[in-house]
Amino acid sequence: MMTPKWARNKRVLLGVSGGIAAYKTCELVRMWMKSGCEVETILTDAAAALVSPLTLSTLSKRRVWRNADLLSDESGWRIPHISLTDWADVMVIAPCTANALRMAATGDSSTLLGAAMLACSVPMVFFPAMNSRMWANPATKRNARTLEEFGHKIVDPDSGPLACGYDGKGRLPSVGVILDETWAALCPLRDFAGRKVLITAGPTREYIDPVRFISSPSSGRMGYALAAEARCRGADVVLVSGPSSERVPSGVRPVPVTSAVEMKDACLRELSGSDVIIKAAAVGDYRAKDRAGQKIKREKSEFLTVELERNPDIAREISIRKSPAQILVGFAAETESVSENALKKIESKGLDMIVANDVSKDGTGFAVATNSVTVYFSGERGGPRPESFSGSKRDVASGILDAVSGLLM
Ligand code: C5P
Repeated sequence: MMTPKWARNKRVLLGVSGGIAAYKTCELVRMWMKSGCEVETILTDAAAALVSPLTLSTLSKRRVWRNADLLSDESGWRIPHISLTDWADVMVIAPCTANALRMAATGDSSTLLGAAMLACSVPMVFFPAMNSRMWANPATKRNARTLEEFGHKIVDPDSGPLACGYDGKGRLPSVGVILDETWAALCPLRDFAGRKVLITAGPTREYIDPVRFISSPSSGRMGYALAAEARCRGADVVLVSGPSSERVPSGVRPVPVTSAVEMKDACLRELSGSDVIIKAAAVGDYRAKDRAGQKIKREKSEFLTVELERNPDIAREISIRKSPAQILVGFAAETESVSENALKKIESKGLDMIVANDVSKDGTGFAVATNSVTVYFSGERGGPRPESFSGSKRDVASGILDAVSGLLM
């Protein structure tokens, strides 16, 4: 899990309404707490039948607020719907039943959750989860539209098997998606709003026969962190990725590819309209000249020679085609003479900026959670102006985007 630095120490007010997916909020609360957030929870009576208040209060290390608290002698004087919404930086309603959605859309404040939603003046994110026919009903659709018109974020439910036995749209999205959407709502920066950012990530695979390939240990994490961060800062993000086990961040459009040639074709297709192109992928430099149609047999000979041919340099191809307003950012993974090689690459590939990292050091580069990089700019962009960033890949992504942001006109 990579928490953006601006999301630490934030205060999350969680409203849980009575959908079966309420049990998933235990994991959600745990993840927010792990990220350094504080969490207050309002549990409707229906939700309390599905998930234990004690579980949620133990995980959040605070009492859970129930409907009875609104007017009880014990806690009513705290005016919980006002004090909780004054306290919060963001309010998340997950799962949000059709009824909770209606209450928010119509300003029904007859319950603690309803009153809190009406009193809330910080960003609100709704995660509707219900039977697919209830979600498709025009009444629900209208309520969701109304809330969007009010400026709130409604995250569409996932499709799949539902508790009622139906298969359709209505599932609560994964905890990862809920975290991404919470961070997006909390993000203080919108410097990429209205910008299209094209990011490449992960390794490529160059098959030599139907079951074997040449690749690299790239996990894709750096590129995925850049995609998540750019999306939070308002960008329309397209993520062209080689095979990776990372989860595509919520709100990011994935374009999965396998080989370098496929990656090049996808990038050239997506180039138009892109304001920024960030090439974080570890592209294979060579591919098999003739890919064997059948699995290569070991018995055939003691030695095997596979003839390789050079792959296209995607960054170079883009730099030839791009307009001067489009910003092209490359990566340089080096094991020696890092700055010299990075500066040479700016020239040879026609980049506006390069992110150099010394992959010979521990905790940098391939398949680790942290990184330490220096960015350099081209002469036309007033370079080299080196700037260094280190930390989690998400923190480094944030530094890289700060540097890119300075180039946006
Ligand atoms: O030449 P080198 O592989 O070190 O350059 C790294 C940079 O160039 C990265 O941004 C990588 O994504 C990009 N690259 C590319 N096409 C290739 C090889 C690398 O776009 N065939």
